[in-house]
Amino acid sequence: MTATLLCLLLAAPVLLVTSGPVRDPNNGTVPLVLWHGMGDSCCNPLSMGAIKKMIEGEISGIYVLSLMIGKNVVQDTENGFFLDVNEQVSMVCNHLAQDPKLKGGYNAMGFSQGAQFLRAVAQRCPSPPMKTLISVGGQHQGVYGLPRCPGESSHFCDLIRKALNSGAYTALVQKHLVQAQYWHDPLNDDLYKKYSLFLADVNQERVVNETYKKNLQLLEKFVMVKFLQDTVVDPVDTEWFGFLKTGQAKEMETLQESVLYKEDRLGLAAMDKAGKLVFLASEGDHLQFTQKWFNANLLPYLR
Ligand SMILES: *[C@@H]1O[C@H](CO)[C@@H](O)[C@H](O)[C@H]1NC(C)=O
Ligand SMILES: *[C@@H]1O[C@H](CO)[C@@H](O)[C@H](O)[C@H]1NC(C)=O
Repeated sequence: MTATLLCLLLAAPVLLVTSGPVRDPNNGTVPLVLWHGMGDSCCNPLSMGAIKKMIEGEISGIYVLSLMIGKNVVQDTENGFFLDVNEQVSMVCNHLAQDPKLKGGYNAMGFSQGAQFLRAVAQRCPSPPMKTLISVGGQHQGVYGLPRCPGESSHFCDLIRKALNSGAYTALVQKHLVQAQYWHDPLNDDLYKKYSLFLADVNQERVVNETYKKNLQLLEKFVMVKFLQDTVVDPVDTEWFGFLKTGQAKEMETLQESVLYKEDRLGLAAMDKAGKLVFLASEGDHLQFTQKWFNANLLPYLR
């Protein structure tokens, strides 16, 4: 009783000091960084532009940064196919570090491939701190198939399929084709582990980089959304960090069944035990959700 009183008395002056008019550059909101998916751009009024507007409408005063990779929308779209992912991540890290509005930390929301790229940002660049990462239809164990390209980008898809078939793990294709950098061939596990420039690195396939493990665990929450009728991502379980079992291309394993989790090479098992992993499912095809679903399921993580 006396101890409680003492605490209250000691706390009182502190409360008085902090309850004054504190200057908050973000109006009491947590800034949000968006990274678009393949074939999309920062500012498409029908996709990222609409989502940015929708969130700004729901959370008054929020700063939403929709990442543009390159100098304009055309470059941004092309870079989603052809610019080395490690380079993109490093560009984004620099950009975020230089934005004064993000100094106090930010939430991040990645769409499709933008989700695994933002996870790399969390693992490699802890400053400014990412608080919550929301992966919307991301491919955290990569893809083994590209059944359909989203939107208007089908002409690129034929090109990509040809390149991947000619050898996803050859140096030339790896370096110049974004999708090859998260191509995960369960029948050629050795090649994947050895030559995948991006995904095998961030998923700790070659070595366990303790920095990646430590940084990822700094997240307050890691939310993964899977689309139950997804026709773009193959296999769809990758959206929850699951994948095909190694050595065959039929049977799946969940994140919890994987070596990555069992050996806890990335800290995901620890995060799971701490209640930091959130698995959400949404009815519908790739990235197809309603504002109602978004507001009910994702908005609470952004407040
Ligand atoms: C906070 O609100 C003020 C006034 O509405 C606005 O001018 C300012 O840009 C807002 N800050 C951010 C980071 O959006
Ligand atoms: C681990 O990751 C950090 C951050 O990206 C990097 O600086 C370091 O070189 C990596 N270490 C290894 C062994 O790959």
